Amino acid sequence: MKLLFASRNTGKVTEVAQLLEGTGWRVMGLSAAGTEVELVESGMTFEDNARMKARQAARIFNDWTLADDSGLEVDALGGEPGVFSARYAGPKAGDADRVRLLLDKLIAVPGEKRTARFRCVMCLVDPAGEDRLFEGKVEGTISHHPRGTSGFGYDPVFIPKGEARTFAELGLDHKNRISHRAVAVRAVVAHLRTKVSMPGSAKPAPGPGGPGRSGGTSGFPGFGYSPPDLRP
Ligand code: IMP
Repeated sequence: MKLLFASRNTGKVTEVAQLLEGTGWRVMGLSAAGTEVELVESGMTFEDNARMKARQAARIFNDWTLADDSGLEVDALGGEPGVFSARYAGPKAGDADRVRLLLDKLIAVPGEKRTARFRCVMCLVDPAGEDRLFEGKVEGTISHHPRGTSGFGYDPVFIPKGEARTFAELGLDHKNRISHRAVAVRAVVAHLRTKVSMPGSAKPAPGPGGPGRSGGTSGFPGFGYSPPDLRP
C-alpha cells in the first residue's frame, strides 16, 4: 500500500516512514514522488493547513494521502511561533536563525516559565476523497542554549517533559517514540487498521476528484496522476 506524505521536509518524511515500518505501507514524500508542486498553506490553524495540503496533494495523486502541519507553541510567547514555526525569522532564515530568535525572545524568561509543546495535526485523505484529522502533542520546556545534533528545526532547544536532554540529544529513535508526530501517526495507523486489512489489501477506489480524475498515466511511480488543481 502506498501512502503519499505531502511534505518536502526529509526529516519529517523519514520519521513518518520509520513510524509506519512493518505496517505494509510504503511512504513517499513529495520530493521522492518527483513533483515540483508547491502546496499552499495559508491557514491560521494547524488544522486548516493540514487539510489544505492534504486535499491539494490528493487531487494530484489520487491515492491515500497524508499531510501534516506542526509547530512549536511557547507559553511565554502567547503560543508563538505556532503555525508560523517554519517561517519564524523570515522567509530566508534557516533553522539556526529561528532557534536564535526564539532564544533571544526568551532570554529573560526563567526555567519554570519556559514551558512549550510541539503540536502536530495530520489530515488523511482516502482514495474516495474523504478527509479526517488526527492530533498529537508533546509537552516540554525550552532550553537556554541549543544542544545536540540530531533531528531538525527546534529539536536542539526542546526538552520533552520527564527528560533532561533535548530532542536533538535524545536521537531519532527516542524522539520517534514520544514525538507529537509519533502520537498523531499512531492515531492515523490505528484508523487505517480499521479501514483496510493491513498490510496491503485495500482496493484503490476512484480518485478524490471522482471517477473522471482517477487513473491516467503516472509521472510518479505507482501513483495515478491528474493535472494539478491547486485549489485548497
Ligand atoms: P510545517 O512543515 O509547516 O509543519 O512546519 C513545521 C515547522 O515547525 C518546522 O519547519 C519546524 O520549524 C517546526 N517543527 C515541527 N515539528 C518539529 C519537530 O519535530 N522538531 C523540530 N521542529 C519542528
